[in-house]
Amino acid sequence: MVKVVRIGIAIGLGVVVSSGCMEIQAGAQTTAPGGVATLTIHTDKPAAKVSPTLYGMMTEEINYSYEGGLYAEMVSNRNFLATWAGIEDWVLKPLGNADGSVEVDRADGPSAALKNSMKLTVKQADASNPLTVLNGGWWGMTVRPTTTYTGSFYAKAAGAQSVKVSLVSDVTGKTLASASIPSLGADWKKYDFTLKTGAEVTPALTNHLTLAFEKPGTVWLQLVSLFPPTYHNRPNGNRADIMEMMAGMNPKFLRMPGGNYLEGDHIRERFDWKKTIGPLVDRPGHRSPWNYRSTDGLGLLEFLEWCEDLKIQPVLAVYAGYSLQQEHVNPGADLEPYVQDALDEIEYVTGDTSTKWGAERAKDGHPATFPLTYVEVGNEDNFDRSKSYDARYAQFYDAIKKKYPNLQIIATTPVRGHVMDVLDDHYYKRAEQFFADVHHYDKTDRNGPKIFIGEWATREGSPTTNFGAALGDAAWMTGMERNSDIIVMSSYAPMFVNVNPGAMQWASDLMGYNAFSVYGSPSYYAQGMFSKNLGTEILPGDLQNAGERFFYSATRSNGTIYLKLVNGSSTPQQIKINLTGASSVKPTAKLVSLSAPSTATTNSITDPKRVVPVESTVRGVAREFTHTVPGYSIEVLNIAAQ
Ligand code: AHR
Repeated sequence: MVKVVRIGIAIGLGVVVSSGCMEIQAGAQTTAPGGVATLTIHTDKPAAKVSPTLYGMMTEEINYSYEGGLYAEMVSNRNFLATWAGIEDWVLKPLGNADGSVEVDRADGPSAALKNSMKLTVKQADASNPLTVLNGGWWGMTVRPTTTYTGSFYAKAAGAQSVKVSLVSDVTGKTLASASIPSLGADWKKYDFTLKTGAEVTPALTNHLTLAFEKPGTVWLQLVSLFPPTYHNRPNGNRADIMEMMAGMNPKFLRMPGGNYLEGDHIRERFDWKKTIGPLVDRPGHRSPWNYRSTDGLGLLEFLEWCEDLKIQPVLAVYAGYSLQQEHVNPGADLEPYVQDALDEIEYVTGDTSTKWGAERAKDGHPATFPLTYVEVGNEDNFDRSKSYDARYAQFYDAIKKKYPNLQIIATTPVRGHVMDVLDDHYYKRAEQFFADVHHYDKTDRNGPKIFIGEWATREGSPTTNFGAALGDAAWMTGMERNSDIIVMSSYAPMFVNVNPGAMQWASDLMGYNAFSVYGSPSYYAQGMFSKNLGTEILPGDLQNAGERFFYSATRSNGTIYLKLVNGSSTPQQIKINLTGASSVKPTAKLVSLSAPSTATTNSITDPKRVVPVESTVRGVAREFTHTVPGYSIEVLNIAAQ
């Protein structure tokens, strides 16, 4: 039993606040009017196998998910995009009597992909009075003590020039770490540096990066980059705290790279994977349909390495010739280059180094192949008003199956006239709608395609969802578990939101963060509870006389029954549980519980642990026992039974 602190549960008139170790006597609580329900679980009659990949994740560049989120790059607008107001996120700051100007040079850059640069004209500067440019990061730049930051930039200079790079506190103006590059050459070249902080530094996000120039002349800069230590210390890698949060959900796959992000608003803005691999300086980046640009620093290989780091499989969505502003590619000859792109992409993921794209992957630093079972053709093609998906899907399906017969192909909307291995269904609903729809798949034809619920979420609460949403989610998950013979995968969406004003395009997200920390919504914790407590077989059950907002699912494996109980109403629900067919039942059971005093209760960046799972022990468990599920709660009982 773990020591827990539990927040109050509103029951009737009062709020009960308790803390410390919890022990619950089965059936000890009283039930509000409504009666005692009966739940019979047929423990010896498993109905079907649970899909081992039932719970996964879905991702795309939305809400500053990668740039300003998971992708650990600390510098914002490292590629110097400009607006009429200047270069976004960069500030020119002459110190003392330094003088100079900054502009975008649209005709000079270090590569064919990055054809522009920041041009700094230093009219007057010296070591005590440098001309500086500042970058404040993604709504802040986190600096921690005793940490090594790895940086680089591309530069060239007309005339002798040196650069001092520093991390500086916004609050005190103190330099927290610095490095000097004594001379820049006349041609474009990459310069690397490290910034090491001392033990005295206070962890904070109120910092910025400064590049200081001490000699008159002209300097061109591009791809100014700074990384903290990353998850598994991958160069160009991901934030460790956000990766650990994902690992905490026990996911089995990652659906990538979208979502709308796969399609783009226009065909030219699709996720064009070949432009997202190789050295960063060769990635032009692109505009996402969520209205900001991606540098594509987190490109195809980085998605795959993200999967590798979490020991999960990618579910690869390939661009299928439809973009969101009603642009489509005609099936047939016009579509062929896109089909070939998808085949090349699959080869990049799975081909050994003797293949063209497998060799390219090895050149990019990853000789080993990645596992791949599922390929999704497009995203939400029901929105394509040209109705071209049937033919586009068929063309992709046939070409992929011909070369990769073992791959399972996912259709994004029902296809006429062609086999679908798996169909991707999306649901964004309110909690009450999910409560009403938990039996959605109970009668689905078992001879049709398997189901992938590739996007789903209860949309209540912002920026991250509240406890009421978690109740809707949990109810829906009981339905998915009971039908996990046909539902092979599911993934909540969207997964991430940067909580700073202006960063969010989609309210109601699973995890929130700023440059300093990350937190999970109640929905995040509900997902982890369901995913970590999942058996291998579905146990059929029969629920009688329960309130209409009460839901359950039961699975088992290796002598453990995982019983999930969701009470979406404010009043407790007493239930008689009959474990029919069990010959012996251990009298104590582990209970993991997530509850809140109201549906509006939530977690936030400043109050990240208001609603978290609480572990306790239930006593008096038997073949027949009574248990009370408090109002507004999600419970998982682990019952040892033979
Ligand atoms: O999850 C947000 C968006 O919802 C996805 O990009 C899209 O597929 C869906 O419409």
